[in-house]
Amino acid sequence: EKGGYEHFMLKEIYEQPHAIRDTYRGRLLANEGIIRMSGVENHKEKFLNANRIIIVACGTSWHAGLVAEYIFEDIARIPVEVEYASEFRYRNPVITEKDVVIAISQSGETADTLAAIKLAKANGAFVFGVCNVVGSSIARETHAGAYTHAGPEIGVASTKAFTTQITVLTLIALKLAKEKGTISNSDFHYHLEQLELIPDKVKQALKSDEHIKKVAETYKDATNCLYLGRGYNFPVALEGALKLKEISYIHAEGYPAAEMKHGPIALIDEQMPVFVIATKKGHYEKVVSNIQEIKSRKGKIIAIVTEGDVDVKKLADHIIEVPETLESLSPLLTTIPLQLLSYHIAVMLGKNVDQPRNLAKSVTVE
Ligand code: F6R
Repeated sequence: EKGGYEHFMLKEIYEQPHAIRDTYRGRLLANEGIIRMSGVENHKEKFLNANRIIIVACGTSWHAGLVAEYIFEDIARIPVEVEYASEFRYRNPVITEKDVVIAISQSGETADTLAAIKLAKANGAFVFGVCNVVGSSIARETHAGAYTHAGPEIGVASTKAFTTQITVLTLIALKLAKEKGTISNSDFHYHLEQLELIPDKVKQALKSDEHIKKVAETYKDATNCLYLGRGYNFPVALEGALKLKEISYIHAEGYPAAEMKHGPIALIDEQMPVFVIATKKGHYEKVVSNIQEIKSRKGKIIAIVTEGDVDVKKLADHIIEVPETLESLSPLLTTIPLQLLSYHIAVMLGKNVDQPRNLAKSVTVE
């Protein structure tokens, strides 16, 4: 059942090229230059007339929502708020009929997300679901939706659900951008072509596994780790930290790289591994200068870089390469080494990777 892999988590990490392709199959028609998603098409007016999009989710799905915030605002020019479902539901939020709420949930059973949906519906919002489990409570409770089609995710730590959620949300953003005319035709086509190349690039990123294992060996005894990224890769830093925490029980924090000097930089010493996402597109020079600040305080730097990078290589203690892609698609690649890293560290520490202590695959109580 684990298909020859030692754990479900590893199997699911390796399934990502396939899962991402399954997510856009029949939706992304690059040759025809269209994106077909009936859940969006049937409610096009709702999306196009929306004052804003409110994304509600928990955990890893919330991180996917943060990535979506960048792409919806950047490409489709729609204001987005991303909310923890648990906070949203209890704070008497302002919701109107002009709001579109997107609920993201792998299991489709998360109690807080479900309650947030009910609240949004009661206030007249249009609610769209992005779920993996077909026929789940959230899929049924929403007005419309799009499944991720990632296949069953058994490992408690979410991996392929995250990348396929980002894929679905990217398709929606691109479709709306095309409808609104906020993206040029050539840019739209270029995005479609680049998205189609992602599964092979994920495969390429997975080839660094042996190297990542060595990096894991070096840092497995750390008691604290920092994860930094900017822009589209800031949520990837949060997700990297969550993956490490939940399966290895090592304390980790994700931050926007520029926030370092507002406090967390005080933590840096020669004991502190800092994982930095420093890919070529997207604030590269700024991230390089953030890396210099960490280096001058003797932090250990492990950087996720674009293939062929030279500048960060000179500064970092370790680099892990991923193929080049559009900035907006880079989270689909930069996430991969961070998943593998957490996996290997947890295995080396003898932790129960697929069923970490205190955690459940679906959180049906608040
Ligand atoms: C992290 C993880 C959790 C879930 C969260 C939401 O690896 O699995 O943080 O992402 O409980 O679950 P869903 O997406 O099922 O609503």
